[in-house]
Amino acid sequence: MIKFSENEIFLVTGGSSGLGKAIALKINELGGTVIAVARNKEKLEKIKDLSNTPQKMFFEVKDLTEDIENLPNWVLGLAQKYGKMRGLILSAGIMQMVSLRAFDVERAKQLFDINYFSDIALCKGFCNKKVVVNEGGGIVFISSISSIRGRSGVINYSASKGAIDSAVKAMAVEVARNGIRVNSILPGLVDTEMKGEVGDNIPPERLNEILNKHILGLGKPEDIANITCFLLSNNARWITGQCFVVDGGASLS
Ligand SMILES: NC(=O)c1ccc[n+]([C@@H]2O[C@H](COP(=O)([O-])OP(=O)(O)OC[C@H]3O[C@@H](n4cnc5c(N)ncnc54)[C@H](OP(=O)(O)O)[C@@H]3O)[C@@H](O)[C@H]2O)c1
Repeated sequence: MIKFSENEIFLVTGGSSGLGKAIALKINELGGTVIAVARNKEKLEKIKDLSNTPQKMFFEVKDLTEDIENLPNWVLGLAQKYGKMRGLILSAGIMQMVSLRAFDVERAKQLFDINYFSDIALCKGFCNKKVVVNEGGGIVFISSISSIRGRSGVINYSASKGAIDSAVKAMAVEVARNGIRVNSILPGLVDTEMKGEVGDNIPPERLNEILNKHILGLGKPEDIANITCFLLSNNARWITGQCFVVDGGASLS
């Protein structure tokens, strides 16, 4: 059984919705303290109401694509405000359905800003000795099976997730000496607002085809929260630099 203590603090981006919200609530349920980050204050306030330990659920309203260069300092400021951190979970992200014909550099840069650059800048901040707890910590990126499976209309989204999966391996080697472990999770289709966006942008028969590939059915946010908490816990103390497919079997065919 995984347990966290109150003084184990986890920074969760995208904590207001979908996978990030489920991860934030699960960490609270297991005893840990959460700082949830997103742009929408009302949504963040709602997760405090949903938590069984609201006194251990904090939130910060922030657009992570504004002033990316300064994100490491922002994380340092959070450590000074809340205390040193045990984990960083990177779940903020967007999906863009854009065909090759409609490729647009500025739009692709917006995607990479939130899906990749802000994540790496946050890791830079987290790996500072003044931020991460002395015994080391864990970083979990939420990637996607789009990084390993071909699908039309998601060239840049897939590339942003592929960039993460490659970065995980290099970063794991670089930060291991500081006791920090780095892993990513590649979910299949999970029932969140983002799944709705996918459904709105492809024909119903194509959506059905994707759903049918999930031989264990569509994922629930808790399915991703469970493995995230395992990877953040001491039970995973010998696991780093790995990319875990959690997709109800979708990538098998
Ligand atoms: N759902 C799936 O089927 C699925 C499958 C594979 C991978 N994933 C990945 O899982 C991650 C989470 O997806 P989800 O399904 O939970 O999506 P979601 O429900 O749309 O949540 C996305 C989160 O990111 C935050 N966010 C977006 N842009 C931001 C910005 N500029 N600054 C700060 N926060 C920002 C959103 O909050 P605000 O809008 O309030 O800022 C929200 O909390 C994403 O990286 C996604 O690519 C999802």
